[in-house]
Amino acid sequence: MFRLFRKKRPKCAALVPAAGSAQRMNGVNKLFLPLCGVPVIVRTLTSLQLAHRVDEIIVAVQEKDMEEVSRLCKEYSLTKCRKVITGGVTREASVMRAAMETSRNTDLLAVHDGARPLVTPDLIDRAIEAAARYGAVAPALPLKDTVKRVKEGGEVERTLKRETLRAVQTPQVFDADLLKASLHAAFESGAELTDDCSAVERLGKVVFLIDGEEENLKITTPTDVLFAEAVLRKRMGLT
Ligand code: CTP
Ligand code: MG
Repeated sequence: MFRLFRKKRPKCAALVPAAGSAQRMNGVNKLFLPLCGVPVIVRTLTSLQLAHRVDEIIVAVQEKDMEEVSRLCKEYSLTKCRKVITGGVTREASVMRAAMETSRNTDLLAVHDGARPLVTPDLIDRAIEAAARYGAVAPALPLKDTVKRVKEGGEVERTLKRETLRAVQTPQVFDADLLKASLHAAFESGAELTDDCSAVERLGKVVFLIDGEEENLKITTPTDVLFAEAVLRKRMGLT
């Protein structure tokens, strides 16, 4: 008897760190900020919900926001949101807590900033597909500005070669065991990280970059809200 061996579709959990304090937004809670009428966190979770390759979503928020985020998940029928949990003091602590809450048979973990509401389901699916092959994947774009290394006083030390640089976005997707081990190792050593890939890079693992999306901006300062609404108006055919 012959059997067709089909490679099983990997199970992927999305981890959404959304427990920050939005200092650069002057303290305005960016989770609930309406973008053309829909809260930032709802837009982020809707893209993950619509991505075919995402099986479940774990959201990490501040204690005070748990109830409202759970309510929004119900109101907007975000059925893949399996758990809303409390995050940690740092972004990586929030990611680690969310990673611990995933279902047991999870193969891949897709970490996506709660503050990136304009990501498309297509980018999420592409990143997950690539990660199933390569184990560690991030979307990235070439830089538009020239980047300089500076000394503490702001004096220019040198100009970096722009062609060799990339701006990295999320979702960053990893083999589940690899990400957990990498975050754990980074945590143990006290290393300060600004993204999840760097935890994996520290262990010598190669991270593959795929094409990011120019519109996949992170809501960081009030100006980003203006850009994000302009993008949404364009998508709705209003401009
Ligand atoms: N984040 C988190 N837990 C933290 C810190 C950040 O889950 N302890 C999340 C944020 O909520 C955000 C994402 O990580 O969705 C990216 O972080 P960032 O844009 O820096 O958000 P904030 O940390 O909230 O903003 P700021 O750095 O200006 O305070
Ligand atoms: Mg921050």
